[in-house]
Amino acid sequence: EKITLSVIKADIGGYVGHSSVHPRLLETAERCLAASKLLIDYRVAHVGDDINLIMTHKYGVDCPEIHHLAWNVFLQCTEVARELKLYGAGQDLLSDAFSGNVKGMGPGVAEMEFEERKSEPVIVFAADKTEPGAWNFPLYKMFADPFNTIGLVIDPKMHQGFRFEVYDLIKNERVEFSLPEELYDLLVFIGAPGRYCIKAVYSKTTGEIAAVSSTQRLNLMAGRYVGKDDPVCIVRCQSGLPAVGEALEPFASPHLVAGWMRGSHIGPLMPVGLNQSAPTRFDGPPRVVAMGFQLAQGRLVGPQDLFADVAFDKARQTANEIANYLRSLGPFEPHRLPLEDMEYTTMPEVMAKLKSRFVKVGRDGETRRFAAELGAK
Ligand code: 13P
Ligand code: 13P
Ligand code: MG
Ligand code: MG
Ligand code: MG
Repeated sequence: EKITLSVIKADIGGYVGHSSVHPRLLETAERCLAASKLLIDYRVAHVGDDINLIMTHKYGVDCPEIHHLAWNVFLQCTEVARELKLYGAGQDLLSDAFSGNVKGMGPGVAEMEFEERKSEPVIVFAADKTEPGAWNFPLYKMFADPFNTIGLVIDPKMHQGFRFEVYDLIKNERVEFSLPEELYDLLVFIGAPGRYCIKAVYSKTTGEIAAVSSTQRLNLMAGRYVGKDDPVCIVRCQSGLPAVGEALEPFASPHLVAGWMRGSHIGPLMPVGLNQSAPTRFDGPPRVVAMGFQLAQGRLVGPQDLFADVAFDKARQTANEIANYLRSLGPFEPHRLPLEDMEYTTMPEVMAKLKSRFVKVGRDGETRRFAAELGAK
């Protein structure tokens, strides 16, 4: 019999600013999930200002009742957030009416359905101050890099490799790559994590799902793509899949991700224990937590706080050093994101104000106002 692991997350209001989740919101979520008859088990967790609902049940992925349950939890939390005037109360609930699926309505979703194995270790990763493409680098290392995952070399059930499903968030297309043969093709795309995101990974030996992320299509609103969000990712481990330690290892050398300060800066992704997951320096640097569970008939045995290990102290130190250096660049790229990727910008206003002062630099010294042309860009 198959079970479904659904992780649905949202930012319902920050405490204080964008740093954490107020305990009353977590209690509210806990109470709502406890009252539901749909779930086998659940955990409520948070990373930074994002609430994660980790739920097991028997209804498959994209189940309207489960999505509705999560939506109602977030609505209840929003009431508390409004009462406490938390920052950006209800910010991730983009619509007023629920329509059967929370995808595209603000919350992030990672779900997988599978037959529980004899032993079923899973890791729920959750990150704050970044976006779904942040999982590209670690998922690549876990499932395709033999220097990270020795299992690809010495485990007969991994040696064939994995299939990667990648979304183009702008054209709303999906494409699959079979690794290791198509490794170089895959990298052409996933090296651009702002647009191409790994949605899922499948074992070529068993065909089974191994990993899934909260990657979702972006919506074009007012000429800009919106909907990137602080993401979650589920990875199943052991026995033909990466060992728990192989799934954690990519985070030992912090990579750079987008989403720090005002969603408009690059920073190192720092692996932290659950009690260090409230980012405050320049609202960051970006954080990732890893919650390990053994599933037992759908029950969530755990979590084990996997990045609490002192062996990740060095990664935290490295991330702090990188953060320090990047901060020294202030408003300059590449710390600040390129114009088209920033969540906030004053460019249109500043440009409108200065429009008449821009003069064309002509080839023959002729100067001509070209404000209209610039405005059209
Ligand atoms: P143990 O010997 O502790 O069971 O570990 C085996 C293993 O494969 C770890 O990656
Ligand atoms: P969140 O995406 O975590 O809400 O943070 C947004 C932000 O602007 C932080 O400076
Ligand atoms: Mg926030
Ligand atoms: Mg957040
Ligand atoms: Mg964000």
